[in-house]
Amino acid sequence: MTTNASQRVLIAPSILAADFRRLGEQVSECLAAGIRRIHVDVMDGHFVPNISMGPLVVEALRPLAQNAGAVLEVHLMIDEPDRYLAEFSRAGATAMTVHFEACPHIHRTVHNIRALNAQPGVGLNPATPLMMLDDILPDIDVALLMSVDPGFGGQKFIAATVDKVARLRAILVRRGLDRVEIEVDGGVGEANITELARAGMTIAVPGTSVFNDRKSVTESIRVLRTACAAVAPCE
Ligand code: DX5
Ligand code: ZN
Repeated sequence: MTTNASQRVLIAPSILAADFRRLGEQVSECLAAGIRRIHVDVMDGHFVPNISMGPLVVEALRPLAQNAGAVLEVHLMIDEPDRYLAEFSRAGATAMTVHFEACPHIHRTVHNIRALNAQPGVGLNPATPLMMLDDILPDIDVALLMSVDPGFGGQKFIAATVDKVARLRAILVRRGLDRVEIEVDGGVGEANITELARAGMTIAVPGTSVFNDRKSVTESIRVLRTACAAVAPCE
């Protein structure tokens, strides 16, 4: 199995789990802790059962992210995402991930994101096979593997994702596409971040394991970094 011990891991906290009354404060706490990628979950009530947030939230966070030189990443769990790409870009999104399952013309969608000067990403639901990424891999910056069925925070991590990450890392290495980030989203926390990093994940998206009542945001990030640092430098 190909390992990825030398590649750094970025922690990209999902603000879905944040306390929305104190959203700016909590994002600032992440940035002060050195986080350089903020994950914004956009849900439309069609592609996924839940409804969450849109460009207004991205716009509100933009100055914070810009000041820190951080990437604002939107995870678009929406049907027909092409209709909203320009608006998210205007609002300040610098990385945009769409779902394979929501995009019949994914090549066009990815190139539309690239044309907006944002990092294009494609996401797969847990039961969607890796081969669906085969032909689009050279065109993307981020491959997002969902480790829960998308729609809600706080769900249980699907353990089979670790093997899926390792298989994707092996494919990327074999094809000379190792620059593509492997992002894992859903139920990521202290219990699985180490094995995910070992398998080849380069972006972790923890929601409830960063924003919760048990620890401060700063302490939660420190715990995740410590767990991850056993196998890879973690930012
Ligand atoms: C799920 C979202 C996630 C998720 C992460 O649809 O894409 O980003 O809420 O949160 P936790 O870590 O709580 O699963
Ligand atoms: Zn997400």
